[in-house]
Amino acid sequence: MASLTIRKLDDAIKADLRLRSAKNGRSVEEEVRVILREYLDGRTEPAMRPAAAEAAAPLRERAETTSEGRITLIIGGGIAAYKALDLVRRLKERHLRVRCVLTDAAQQFVTPLAASAVSGERAYTALFDPTSELDAGHIRLARDCELIVVAPATADLMAKMAHGLADDLASAILLAAKGPILLAPAMNPVMWSNAATRRNAEQLKRDGIALVGPNTGEMAEKGERGLGRMAEPLEIVAAAERFMRKTAKPLSGQRVLITAGPTHEPIDPVRYIANRSSGKQGFAIAAAAKAAGADVTLISGPVELEGPIGVTVVFVESARQMLKGVEAALPADIAIFAAAVADWRVAHAGEQKLKKGGGMPPLQLVENPDILARIANLKEKRPCLVIGFAAETEHLIDNATAKLRRKGCDWILANDVSAASGVMGGDRNTIHLLKRNGADISVEDWPLMSKEEVAFELVAEVARTLGKPA
Ligand SMILES: Cc1cc2nc3c(=O)[nH]c(=O)nc-3n(C[C@H](O)[C@H](O)[C@H](O)COP(=O)(O)O)c2cc1C
Repeated sequence: MASLTIRKLDDAIKADLRLRSAKNGRSVEEEVRVILREYLDGRTEPAMRPAAAEAAAPLRERAETTSEGRITLIIGGGIAAYKALDLVRRLKERHLRVRCVLTDAAQQFVTPLAASAVSGERAYTALFDPTSELDAGHIRLARDCELIVVAPATADLMAKMAHGLADDLASAILLAAKGPILLAPAMNPVMWSNAATRRNAEQLKRDGIALVGPNTGEMAEKGERGLGRMAEPLEIVAAAERFMRKTAKPLSGQRVLITAGPTHEPIDPVRYIANRSSGKQGFAIAAAAKAAGADVTLISGPVELEGPIGVTVVFVESARQMLKGVEAALPADIAIFAAAVADWRVAHAGEQKLKKGGGMPPLQLVENPDILARIANLKEKRPCLVIGFAAETEHLIDNATAKLRRKGCDWILANDVSAASGVMGGDRNTIHLLKRNGADISVEDWPLMSKEEVAFELVAEVARTLGKPA
């Protein structure tokens, strides 16, 4: 029996095998076994279509030359480059085709192989590449797309763009582009606030280039935090979709009302009662609903987040202000209450700062309005789907079930907010979705996900329920 040595196969086939095996999560040897088995079973053509050989052909010769639904994604050399792979996945979930271009620095953080495995297309890296430059590939990469997204857009890339440099593939594409460009800047807060970066960002905006983010948050550098964190992949998707002609908009025409963040209940003009809610989950839901085409109003307590693009954001402080904001935003088709509203407020907040020395101030607490129950029990103007959150530290499902019955809403997303879970203020969440069907309650356990993924799943579930599959 002849033996096959993969090492001795020609380079195009080896590259194709590596790509296929990475995509399918198998070793190269196992991939070869699968291909042979499928061939012997008659499931594939005798000659497999080598992706590498296909990639080596001039772009002109490819079957898919239309720019509709196509994005060129330029990945810059920042620590957030790893999130660009998730961004590709999110864009593809919306049936958009993504071609990745990696700068030299980007390849220090993610590999072209990973980018092509996730995108399902060749990833481009070099300007002086004889295979793709046979027909001026950088011009095609700039033009055969509806939109160019740069994520992460590093300080260096932004500086090059602002000055019209074109000494590598990414900058040459950006200079040759005729269509829209969307940047997702990501850098250390000091780099972002540097006068040179500020000038460059202003210049780029004047040149008609759109920016999404950056956001305020934790930096990769230990102990650093501030403005410079890349917008989350779903925020970038939402921003990108504004430029695309054909994307699924399952919630288009729907009015969605969302609350987020904590409330601050005043004790006196300088002190307040608050909680640890960051608002991330509610903001992520707002971005996902916007991306799904909804008309979104977000009523938020005090948070350090920027409103997602295209979402109407109303910032409030206290529970009573939040209720007013919610009522003013009605009617809505769907209401999602993700805010951690304080249950109590101080009955008589001091008009002047309370002073020490007069004994302990008598802080009498009274109940705040129950926004979820109020809206779920409206006779008129009740949204057709009212969804609440149950943040619990013990007996999660029992407490959430009781809350669902008590409040009169349709669904509850129960999450464990004990200190050990890291949910409050963190980036990930484990959700149990409770739905009321008459007297019955069903519980669906979701795996640990990022708050953006939770938002995306929730919006998809809402769309399915309303008969508008995503
Ligand atoms: C570990 C590490 C992380 C970095 N992260 C960033 C970043 O987040 N943003 C940024 O603008 N530059 C960052 N840099 C610096 C860029 O990599 C450098 O400026 C590079 O030239 C950018 O290349 P580009 O133009 O291909 O993006 C980082 C450098 C290192 C070594």
